[in-house]
Amino acid sequence: MRVILLGAPGAGKGTQAQFIMEEFGIPQISTGDMLRAAIKNGTELGKKVKAVMDSGSLVSDDIIIALVKERIAEADCAGGFLFDGFPRTIPQAEALRDAGVEIDHVVEIAVEDEEIVQRMGGRRVHPGSGRTYHVVYNPPKVEGKDDVTGEDLIQRKDDVEETVRHRLGVYHEQTAPLVDFYKKIEGETRYTCVEGAGSVDDIKGKVLGALKPVA
Ligand code: AP5
Ligand code: ZN
Repeated sequence: MRVILLGAPGAGKGTQAQFIMEEFGIPQISTGDMLRAAIKNGTELGKKVKAVMDSGSLVSDDIIIALVKERIAEADCAGGFLFDGFPRTIPQAEALRDAGVEIDHVVEIAVEDEEIVQRMGGRRVHPGSGRTYHVVYNPPKVEGKDDVTGEDLIQRKDDVEETVRHRLGVYHEQTAPLVDFYKKIEGETRYTCVEGAGSVDDIKGKVLGALKPVA
């Protein structure tokens, strides 16, 4: 199964991706996590993208498309995968289509901008795995520590309110047009919009429900 999780920054894509991976046994491909890992490891790619990511603008389509093509050619993607944070622009979606990659499900998680600004201030992340928590809405078992490894959680640099507002602007301008792109696409792609306000568990039920085969 090939799935795209669509939604604004902070809509809960990373949070729900964990449940989809567990339920369907497909790998999560988060371009944001891949880029953050490159920065952490000090690679050439990391050096190139750091300033753009910290500012909350988008990394160039060429870089992202090359990164994703390489990733989906790996063995663990043979049975399907889950895109989180990709595609983010019409050219990225077109590149995927032109490469012959057919998508079974596009699930949009829709959340109001003001709710997102509230959420982002409380987000904490485990840098090694990308696992995501919220100090109030989805707290780790031990404060400040990852549930699985016990390692420290961090706050992302682009979670400052001003940068979050910029990222929301970028989303509305460059990524939101993908909703129409996928609604119109011919073939087997099923599009579902899930209302993303509510508890993490409620939304999990709706997202997993959207991915169940039609009876
Ligand atoms: P990326 O890492 O993809 O960030 P994003 O899309 O901006 O999304 P986030 O990770 O911020 O949010 P999320 O939807 O995963 O929400 P989460 O589950 O964490 O991209 C970062 C940057 O990389 C971009 O700005 C760009 O520079 C670059 N980049 C990446 N991909 C790119 C691409 N394809 N093209 C170009 N550039 C690219 O949840 C947020 C918080 O809310 C958490 O604290 C969570 O615990 C909490 N929460 C979740 N659900 C709920 C709920 N139901 N109720 C209350 N709180 C909740
Ligand atoms: Zn994320």
